[in-house]
Amino acid sequence: TTEEKRSRIYEIKKQLGRRLFIPGHHYQRDEVIEFADVTGDSLQLAQLSKANKEAEFVVFCGVHFMAETADMLTTDKQKVILPDLKAGCSMADMADISQTEYAWGELQSQFGDTILPLTYVNSTAAIKAFCGRNGGATVTSSNAKAMVEWAFTQKQRLLFLPDQHLGRNTAFDLGIELEEMAIWDPIQRELIYDGNKENIKVILWKGHCSVHEKFTVAQIEDLRKTSPDTNIIVHPECTFEVVQAADLSGSTHFIIETIRNAAPWTSWAVGTEMNLVNRLAQQFSDKQIISLNPNMCPCLTMNRIDLDHLLWSLEELVEGKLHYPITVDPKTTEEANLALKRMLERV
Ligand code: 13P
Ligand code: SF4
Repeated sequence: TTEEKRSRIYEIKKQLGRRLFIPGHHYQRDEVIEFADVTGDSLQLAQLSKANKEAEFVVFCGVHFMAETADMLTTDKQKVILPDLKAGCSMADMADISQTEYAWGELQSQFGDTILPLTYVNSTAAIKAFCGRNGGATVTSSNAKAMVEWAFTQKQRLLFLPDQHLGRNTAFDLGIELEEMAIWDPIQRELIYDGNKENIKVILWKGHCSVHEKFTVAQIEDLRKTSPDTNIIVHPECTFEVVQAADLSGSTHFIIETIRNAAPWTSWAVGTEMNLVNRLAQQFSDKQIISLNPNMCPCLTMNRIDLDHLLWSLEELVEGKLHYPITVDPKTTEEANLALKRMLERV
């Protein structure tokens, strides 16, 4: 039964004590978050993984790129485990390293040495390593603005991977016009831009989050009519039009803190992953909190980690078996850590 599974997890946690560390991303299921030693957004989880020097096993409740980042930031002795290998991220999969190297070659031939690559942490270790060896850095949704500002102290343009929306929303907030942004299409292998290429400041990789793209301007317009007092807050992985039409936008951490600090009895429609929205509604019951999308928006890969997978990987661990170990090779780790370090020392 569920009760038996829960008590077995508590037993294993007690048995392993500080040898075991379970970070949980805010988008994870309630049945998993219950056992997390820490919860956080991707930046917080990266920092916490780096700070933890004592756990032998990090059972990462999140998605594959987060477990890779944890592996790269922890010591060689610490083992990082992802309870289900199918917990990937469709956005991270939209930029593979051979597509990126090809794009880089093309862009270098068009613009010379004027571009700095930045990658959202929602990317593979190989893409982070690519940014690291080319002088660039990683960014998260909580620090994208500061990192884009920094990028322009280094080079006159930037290539932003793999989320076009976070890139566009962040650059626009910093005063860069849409006309100064181009798109690199990795499938067509071409730069999409109408004007004089000299004016390009930001090249956006054509990737997106399939969860956050499901929020629409029509949903916002409906809500403005039916419930004009509702505040609309969305994640910057939503499209530019949605972010512009919303009242507020920001990282997962920003969304949580804004709602926590909001006045009682206020109403909120939230444009981010469903597990988090449901938890906010439970946690802040003095406020009315709904998903901006009436059909809700689960991240299917985040949801792969469930009670059964968590229990199974912990049982295996007790038997001395690692399922599934996430290990990034030393060269990729070294280069990717350059990119992560450039971010972590600035935020
Ligand atoms: P943050 O945790 O940085 O807000 O990212 C959201 C996300 O989509 C994680 O996969
Ligand atoms: Fe990837 Fe989007 Fe899911 Fe985050 S919410 S893990 S970006 S698919």
